[in-house]
Amino acid sequence: MLEAIDALRADALTRIAAVDTADQLEAVRVGLLGRKGEVTGLLRGLKDVDAEARPAAGSALNRLKQDLTAALDGRENDLRGAAQVVTGLDLTLPGTAPVGLGSAHPLHTVLEEICDIFYGMGFDRGDGPEVELDYYNFTALNFPDDHPARDIQDTFFLSEDTLLRTQTSPVQVRLMEQLQPPLSYVFPGRVYRNENADASHSSEFFQIEGLCVDKDISLVDLRQTVESFIERFFGPGFATRFRPHFFPFTEPSVEVDMECMKCGGRGCGVCGQTGWMEIMGAGMVHPNVFKAAGYPEDAYTGFAFGMGIDRIAMRKYGINDIRLLYENDLRFLNQFRGVL
Ligand code: DAH
Repeated sequence: MLEAIDALRADALTRIAAVDTADQLEAVRVGLLGRKGEVTGLLRGLKDVDAEARPAAGSALNRLKQDLTAALDGRENDLRGAAQVVTGLDLTLPGTAPVGLGSAHPLHTVLEEICDIFYGMGFDRGDGPEVELDYYNFTALNFPDDHPARDIQDTFFLSEDTLLRTQTSPVQVRLMEQLQPPLSYVFPGRVYRNENADASHSSEFFQIEGLCVDKDISLVDLRQTVESFIERFFGPGFATRFRPHFFPFTEPSVEVDMECMKCGGRGCGVCGQTGWMEIMGAGMVHPNVFKAAGYPEDAYTGFAFGMGIDRIAMRKYGINDIRLLYENDLRFLNQFRGVL
């Protein structure tokens, strides 16, 4: 019996050392210690051993069982460790690398900051579709049929009468179709133009549109609103000026400039030596736009404005290439974590 025990120990230890998967190890364990296993078989045979030799055989069998159990458990640990090395991954371990929480994109933060300023002046927020009808993007905004902006070179047409909106202005008409004055709304959103990308152009960018309609709204209201916005967003002390311009949907139309933040108006590389930076287009809502919205003739006046959020973000944070805002390079984005 004792020889049989020693022989089984030697054989079993070799077998245990030779397995290299958890399944094989389990098969060896069952083969040795299971109900029909070899060790169990020896234990059963104990009753046939001479009464004198039985105690020694019994304790030798117990030791065998303990030794093999220890060897099986040890091998199991080895295999688990090896599996971790192979995959490099143990999902049960706590993480060691700090996990970043992520943060808002700088464009999004600037967009919300701008909206907050307008909420403070009593504006509500609206929204419109990015896939827009030609009608709302152009016709209802008083663009003539042959206006160059309707050219396929400037606009992504999806079909003859649908397109990716080139501006947030179409939301003006959609909103006025739904609401009667008095109303004052901002509507921020993504717009698209068929442009080749460079440091200052991107085929997608963000605008925010403003619309305020009531009886007796005048250019003075526009000027005050714009100046309050600039003071709150960029800080006090920047002069502004209105330059006459043309937009089909406003009359009169203006472009609004503010004193260059970089040089304080003296002239520098950023403002092209003019001392001024263009900040938005604006004007008094054209009667044809009120007509398209279904408002009665001559009942209301209103002002509208539209500005590029990307450009404003770039000016405020000294970003010199608009493409950085769309490439999602974490080396760029991480600079804004906790800053904005
Ligand atoms: N939609 C114009 C653009 O994309 C910007 C604009 C100018 C909007 C004047 C307005 C406005 O509401 O009154 O260039």
